[in-house]
Amino acid sequence: MQMKNIVVLVSGGGTNLQALIDAQEAGKIKGGRITCVISSKPGVYALERAGKHNIKTRVIARKEYADAVEYSKAILDALNEEKADLVVYAGFMTILDELVVKAYPYKMMNVHPALIPSFCGKGYYGLRVHEEALRKGVKLTGATVHFVTEVCDGGPIILQKAVEVQNGDTPEVLQRRVMEQAEWKILPEAVSLFCEDRLEVNNDIVTIKN
Ligand code: GAR
Repeated sequence: MQMKNIVVLVSGGGTNLQALIDAQEAGKIKGGRITCVISSKPGVYALERAGKHNIKTRVIARKEYADAVEYSKAILDALNEEKADLVVYAGFMTILDELVVKAYPYKMMNVHPALIPSFCGKGYYGLRVHEEALRKGVKLTGATVHFVTEVCDGGPIILQKAVEVQNGDTPEVLQRRVMEQAEWKILPEAVSLFCEDRLEVNNDIVTIKN
C-alpha cells in the first residue's frame, strides 16, 4: 500500500498537530505521513512545531483574501500541489467554501472539542465550546473526529471520546482535560484508521473495518 500524504491545516498553537507528530514518530500512524502543514495565520506556534520536525510548512493567510471563496481556491490549489490524500483540520479556525470539500469528499477530517451534536456548528470553536458546555452544566463532554462536509461540524462521525466535567472547572481547565483525555488520542487514531483504509462511509455512517 502506498503511503498517504497527510496535509494538516492549523491556525494556532498546534497541540493537536503535536499529537499527530508524536504518534507518527512512535510509529502509530500506519500507512501515511505528514507531508505539509498549512496555516491560516503567520507566526503561530504550530508552524514552529512542524519546523522542529522538518515538516514542510506553508502560510496561506486568511486576511490576505477578500472572501471565503477566494481563500478556498488558494487552499485547494495548495492541497492539489501537495498531492494530499488526507486533509486534517487540527485547530483550523476558518470555514472553507464547499468547493474544497467537493474536491476531497470524505478525505478531510476535523477534531471538534465536544460530543457532536452538542455544542457544535457555526460560532462554536475553541474556548467558546467549553464556555457553553459549562453554562449548560453538562456533566460529560468530550471530543469528536468527523469527516468534513459542507455542513459545519455536520459530517459523518469517525470517533468520539467522553470526558467528565468536574466541580470548579473553568473553560481553560476543561479545554485542557478534553485535549489530554480525548482530542490528542482520537485524532491520531482516526488519521491512522483512514491511512490504513479502514474507514467506510455508507449513508453518512462511518464503519470501522477490522
Ligand atoms: C482544539 O481544542 C480543537 O479541538 C479546537 O481548537 C483547539 C485547537 O488547539 N477546534 C475547534 O474548535 C474547531 N471548531 P490546537 O491548535 O492546540 O490543536
